[in-house]
Amino acid sequence: MNDSPLKKEIVDQKIKELRISDVGKASIREIVALVNLVEGETGVKYIRMEMGVPGLPPAKVGVAAEIEALKKGVASIYPIIDGIKPLKEQAAQFVKNFMDVEVSAKGCIPTVGSMQGTFCAFLAAGFIDKKKDAALFIDPGFPVQKQQMMVLGLKYETFDVFSFRGEKLGVKLEEFLSKGNINSIIYSNPNNPAWICFTDEELQMIGELANKYGAIVMEDLAYFGMDFRRDFSQPGVPPYQPTVAKYTDNYVLFISSSKIFSYAGQRCGLMVISDKLYSREFPDLQKRFESPTFGSTIVLRLLYSISSGTSHSAQWALAAMLEAANSGKFNFVDDVKAYGKKAKVMKKLFVENGFEIVYKTDLDEPIADGFYFTLSYPGMTGNQLVANLLYYGISAIALDNTGSNEEGIRACVSFVQPEQFDELEKRLKLFNDNFRTR
Ligand SMILES: Cc1ncc(COP(=O)(O)O)c(C=O)c1O
Repeated sequence: MNDSPLKKEIVDQKIKELRISDVGKASIREIVALVNLVEGETGVKYIRMEMGVPGLPPAKVGVAAEIEALKKGVASIYPIIDGIKPLKEQAAQFVKNFMDVEVSAKGCIPTVGSMQGTFCAFLAAGFIDKKKDAALFIDPGFPVQKQQMMVLGLKYETFDVFSFRGEKLGVKLEEFLSKGNINSIIYSNPNNPAWICFTDEELQMIGELANKYGAIVMEDLAYFGMDFRRDFSQPGVPPYQPTVAKYTDNYVLFISSSKIFSYAGQRCGLMVISDKLYSREFPDLQKRFESPTFGSTIVLRLLYSISSGTSHSAQWALAAMLEAANSGKFNFVDDVKAYGKKAKVMKKLFVENGFEIVYKTDLDEPIADGFYFTLSYPGMTGNQLVANLLYYGISAIALDNTGSNEEGIRACVSFVQPEQFDELEKRLKLFNDNFRTR
């Protein structure tokens, strides 16, 4: 057996120091802390695949608009809670241009990242109907959203979509929905962590079943336009970003600026509520929050209580980025294609060294190369794989954390630099040499 690039004792000692009982089950933030400590002690640089940080510079047009807004003095003025007018208008236009969906500016609301958007939407959905006491997550998914449910004290159900693609998705969804207790359906598309993308047929099933059973669909578009197999970058020109909004008017969309505009630090995303849902009156919701409609509950009860709006200058930044995209001056998809290029190389290196892609296809089409992909290694659980890779200077999180039933890990490409590919290959070869014969 060849030596791993890192001394096992040092890694183990740091795991102990951080009081992580099972490193395979560690959260993203725990892995970040651990790798920082090991890097600090050994000077060995990790191939860091654990955290979904953008890794690209922020969109220039946003930064310029934000500086301009600050110079004009917006920092001293409370922003209007449901968003400044130019942002709302550009957001509605963006939804029209890139999704081919009509929505009023009123329902386009800035939030402190998509995180705040989902927090408020989960809370409102949790009280629309006393009989509907659970949300339904189509997993695998973004772990922090489950934490939000836990913090809110709300119930949820979940299933791993791995074995339920195509027609089977409709059957599985109906199994849950027909019980009558589901208030909302949540998923990300493209999917964090698996990078699968629902087909239009699948989105249609979700939309139609939501209509049939009165569930709100929460579509998380944190990676809007980033299914690079098709070009969604031209405003007003098909193909458009696929969406459930084509098949139901009972939806909330979440459009994050963090990845598509590399604007994560300013914490300004968008929540888009359909016109019908915005003005809908739910008697149980009215009783709970004393506000007439779903939209007014979100704005005047939840957002008002939690943060009283979103950073004023960041709203100007987002308005400018959306305007530039809407007018065709800024191709935001081109700017993030670098992720797809990295994923292609990295997937090849892993597969050549004994790994397999876990979520491999969208029905018969291979998944796109994008921000994340999933990996397994024969004979190892996902948790063992996370732990073993740490000794080889490679960090990732286990699929365990994401509601997946598959054994494997999530790899995020954003932090890995092309200059590290040679080193990644060396470490993977060594890993495979040491484990394949066992
Ligand atoms: C699926 C998904 N939803 C939401 C978010 C968070 O978005 P924001 O930074 O806008 O809060 C992320 C970030 O990684 C994500 O992957």
